[in-house]
Amino acid sequence: MLTAMRSDRDELWEINAGWWQQGFTDGADPEYVEQIVPMAAERLKGLDRVLDIGTGEGQLARLATATGSTGVIGVDPTLAQVEVATRKGGEAHYLRAEAATLPFADASFDGVLACLVFEHISAMDEAIAEVSRVLKPGGRFLFFLNHPLLQTPGSGWIDDHIIDEQYWRIGPYLTEADEIEEVEKNVFIPFVH
Ligand SMILES: C[S@@+](CC[C@H](N)C(=O)[O-])C[C@H]1O[C@@H](n2cnc3c(N)ncnc32)[C@H](O)[C@@H]1O
Repeated sequence: MLTAMRSDRDELWEINAGWWQQGFTDGADPEYVEQIVPMAAERLKGLDRVLDIGTGEGQLARLATATGSTGVIGVDPTLAQVEVATRKGGEAHYLRAEAATLPFADASFDGVLACLVFEHISAMDEAIAEVSRVLKPGGRFLFFLNHPLLQTPGSGWIDDHIIDEQYWRIGPYLTEADEIEEVEKNVFIPFVH
């Protein structure tokens, strides 16, 4: 099963875009509501042209327009995300593009945002080089990443009913890997560690 899924790696975000949108946007996820959105709003202030890489359904691109940025573009290779982002509207513009090959001129943006995206990108060095290329000198990179301690295979919430203990187990986290993980029953997402 996993081998078959792996050959469809690029399709996994198309298949699971709805899962992401339902569980992690529009106030559904406390981590976004309590931490990510307030931190991003604070650090977006004063940035005019902003690029949101891996924008998903555009929740942080919309935040950027709400905090005063006027030239906001969200890119994502996943059609099922870009379509919803476009439908949800706001002042931002959306297009399909990969982080590693951004279709913008050098020094185009005052700020670049990437939220919970780089842990899904195999061509990570190329993607970082693209961020550096499209940012204006002195521009700001807002980089949100799940801490690797908390999101490696084997890490997760344990609810031990026998000894009545609940805790977060930390799995091995110094191993480099590019793999597909089942993050919930039947939800397979590509991760790079
Ligand atoms: C966890 S979601 C985060 C979405 C959005 N940044 C947010 O915070 O709501 C990860 C997103 O990364 C996108 N993605 C996956 N591979 C990508 C790549 N190579 N370049 C850019 N985005 C990518 C997926 O399509 C998905 O929309």
